[in-house]
Amino acid sequence: MNDASSLGVHRLWKDTFVSELRPGRRGPIRCIDVAGGTGDIALRILDHARERYADREITVDVVDINAQMLKEGFRRFKKTMYHNTPQISFHEANAQELPADKFTDNSYDLYTIAFGIRNCTSIPAVLKEAYRVLKPGGTFACLEFSKVDNPLLSLAYDQYSFTMIPLLGTILTGDRASYQYLVESIRKFPPQAEFANMIRDAGFTTGKDVDGSAWENMWGGIACVHTGVKVA
Ligand SMILES: C[S@@+](CC[C@H](N)C(=O)[O-])C[C@H]1O[C@@H](n2cnc3c(N)ncnc32)[C@H](O)[C@@H]1O
Repeated sequence: MNDASSLGVHRLWKDTFVSELRPGRRGPIRCIDVAGGTGDIALRILDHARERYADREITVDVVDINAQMLKEGFRRFKKTMYHNTPQISFHEANAQELPADKFTDNSYDLYTIAFGIRNCTSIPAVLKEAYRVLKPGGTFACLEFSKVDNPLLSLAYDQYSFTMIPLLGTILTGDRASYQYLVESIRKFPPQAEFANMIRDAGFTTGKDVDGSAWENMWGGIACVHTGVKVA
């Protein structure tokens, strides 16, 4: 689905998202990748830490509500060097209510969620849980489709979204409805400044809206990275 909606560009966005977080730079860290069933982000985190910093101690707990997605992620990891190592684990859970016995307070250094928060019914509940499980000083990072700021690009993107994406969905999977939902859910997701406020409301500190440091648009806002830090 990500391929159809971004023409494959989501891979580049994910590369940038992970490399800018520099996982592994400060030694072994504990990460949680929520709504991460495909393992796309987890694999990039582990690769980045190993390739850049020779870090083989960093760990990622992948969480997803959908057992099928987790199965897919697990299957992909089977082909990697991380399979059967303590560096990766898969868990079925709801981002809005992570089981507190398993995902304890103040336990992670990095929380990532890519193209997942939009699908959750309560964004504040997800943010509240992210804040709870992060250690003081830990980072929340979200990659999500967002609002295009340039009117010309916005027009072209709307044309593509409302005609091509459902069509591609029908051709690729025969499932037009899911792709129609995808386009509509992207439009309903709060724009950058509103989402940044929600992150602050959950207790995180972010950069400033005015100087462009609260979020980083990719491709004019088609996708966007928001980060927040849990105050120490
Ligand atoms: C578009 S996929 C993104 C997967 C992956 N992060 C990526 O970028 O390739 C959205 C994922 O969110 C998961 N999801 C939806 N609602 C969720 C929830 N409440 N808690 C955890 N995962 C959820 C879905 O099962 C799905 O795997």
